[in-house]
Amino acid sequence: MTGTSTDGSGRATGGKSRFDDIYDRPDPRAYFGRLAPLEYEIPHHAQPVFRRIAAERAAADDGRSSRPTVLDLCCSYGINAALLNHDVTLAEMAERYTSRTAQDMSTAELIAWDKEFYAQRRRPDAVPVIGLDVSAPAVQYALAVGLLDAAFTDDLEQGPPSPQLNHALAEVGLVTLTGGGSYITDRTFTALLDGARRPVWVSAFVLRTVSYEPVERTLAAHGLRTTVDSSRTYPQRRFTDAREQQYAVEAVRKLGHDPAGHEEAGRFHSLYYESRPDTAR
Ligand SMILES: C[S@@+](CC[C@H](N)C(=O)[O-])C[C@H]1O[C@@H](n2cnc3c(N)ncnc32)[C@H](O)[C@@H]1O
Repeated sequence: MTGTSTDGSGRATGGKSRFDDIYDRPDPRAYFGRLAPLEYEIPHHAQPVFRRIAAERAAADDGRSSRPTVLDLCCSYGINAALLNHDVTLAEMAERYTSRTAQDMSTAELIAWDKEFYAQRRRPDAVPVIGLDVSAPAVQYALAVGLLDAAFTDDLEQGPPSPQLNHALAEVGLVTLTGGGSYITDRTFTALLDGARRPVWVSAFVLRTVSYEPVERTLAAHGLRTTVDSSRTYPQRRFTDAREQQYAVEAVRKLGHDPAGHEEAGRFHSLYYESRPDTAR
C-alpha cells in the first residue's frame, strides 16, 4: 500500500516503528513480550469477523465439494488461525506467552505445551487454514504446533508464487489479513488472485495510515467488490512514541480521515475492508 518513505528493500515503511526483530524468532514469546505492552489488539477485533466470514464463505456454493481454505496473509506465528479455530482469546495468548512458565521453557518445550493446549481447544467448526509470511521461523512454529495446515514464505512483492504455493491456491476461498497492510501491496494481492481457482473473498483490517485503494482496484479487476464502513474504526495498538504518533496523524489527514479522538488520542486505528464477488457485474 502506500507509505512516506522506504527501507533498503524499497518497501514502504512510513514513519511506523519497525518490529522486524520480533517477526523472525522461533516462537511467539518476544512478539507478545513487545506488543502486549503496546496493547496490540487488532487480531482480537478480527476474531469474530473472521469467524463470521469464514462460515459464510464455507456455506457459499461454488460448485466444489471440498471446504474452501482460508489463507491468512502475513500470518506470522499463526495468531489469526489460533483465534479462528480455537476457543482462546488474544488476551489469553498474551498472558500465556509472557508468563513465567513460558519464559522458562525451550522452544521445543513450548511447542509441545502449545500442541496440547490448542488441540484441547480446537473448535468443532474449525476450517482449513494456510499461512503466508516471509518469516520462515514464525510459520515453522505455527506448523509445528498445528495451527496451520500448510505455510509458505514466498515474498509476492518480489516475485511470482512458487509451484507449491500455486498448488495450494487452488483450494483458497478466503484471504484474511491483520497487521500486514503496511508491508504488502496490490502486487501480493494480484499474485494471489491470479493463482486462485475458486472464488476468493478478502477480509482485511488495514491501518488508516495506508491507502487500500490500489488493492481495491486490483480486487475489482478480479471481479471483487469491496465495502468499508469508514465511520467504524478498530484500535490497533498504542504508539511507541510521539514521533510515530505525529507520522500517523499526518498520514491519516493526508488520506482524508479525521484523527481527532483516534490517532490523536494515542493509538493506530484500522478500517475493515470486505471484498466479495461482484454479482452485479
Ligand atoms: C505485524 S505482523 C502481523 C502478524 C499477525 N497477522 C498479527 O496481526 O498479529 C506483520 C507480519 O508481516 C510479515 N510480512 C512482512 N512483509 C511480508 C510480505 N512481503 N509477505 C508476507 N508477509 C510479510 C512479517 O514477517 C510479519 O510477520
